[in-house]
Amino acid sequence: MPDAVDLAYSIEGPSTGPVILLLHGFPLSKRMWRHQVKALAADGWRVVTPDLRGHGASPRPDESATMQRQAADVRRLADTLGLDAFVLAGFSMGGYVALQLALESPARVRGLALIDTRADADTDEARARRYATAEDVKARGVAVVADAMLPKMLTERTRGQRPELADEVRDMMMRAPQTGVVQALLGMAARPDQRPHLAKLQMPALVLVGSEDAVTPRDAAEVLAKGMPDARLEVIPDAAHLSPMEQPEAVTSALRRWLKPLSSV
Ligand code: MLT
Repeated sequence: MPDAVDLAYSIEGPSTGPVILLLHGFPLSKRMWRHQVKALAADGWRVVTPDLRGHGASPRPDESATMQRQAADVRRLADTLGLDAFVLAGFSMGGYVALQLALESPARVRGLALIDTRADADTDEARARRYATAEDVKARGVAVVADAMLPKMLTERTRGQRPELADEVRDMMMRAPQTGVVQALLGMAARPDQRPHLAKLQMPALVLVGSEDAVTPRDAAEVLAKGMPDARLEVIPDAAHLSPMEQPEAVTSALRRWLKPLSSV
């Protein structure tokens, strides 16, 4: 087992409620879930949002943030909080971590929501791009990633009509620590292809994807949904990659519908 670090986290909602953990994407933080946290906590869920290693207020170890290490961090947090079983939701890189954790510890994951994410590994070309970006971030800072990702996070329409949202997303990315960004890039480049293992994930699963997501597009979401025996796919209209922030009501409603049968502790 890789060494786990103690993650920074927040908890909202009643202490006796059923538990859901929300794992953010790269290079973001738990702030990305603010809409879902408020709504699900109001429904009676105990909502736990960690900052993944190298992001937000969590430690930034100087080693690549592999999905195995990140899954071990989340499991350690669950152990610390005394959570034997929980619903797990992950967005993009958080989805890679959620898949890893669900495959390693299926008995602990009562339900799995995978949002704008994918099961396959990087192609050689994508991996080479990550290594080049990591070098670029070391030389020029996190703006390299923030500038490249913002147009993929939100549709052009949203960036035009809701500049304050675009500013918020860019600000969140700019706050990501440089080491954390580099190590996450290296960790994502090394992630395994989980497609051959999807059939083992027998818990109820929900797959969401923004209709205009070009980072983890609909065909990648279909692979996830078809690969897991108890999964359903919903497409979020008018959303690029960061659907939980671009279309928060639609993402929250989809989560709420899916979570209903899981709400008895
Ligand atoms: C993310 O949103 O977490 C990342 O874009 C995922 C990735 O680069 O594969």
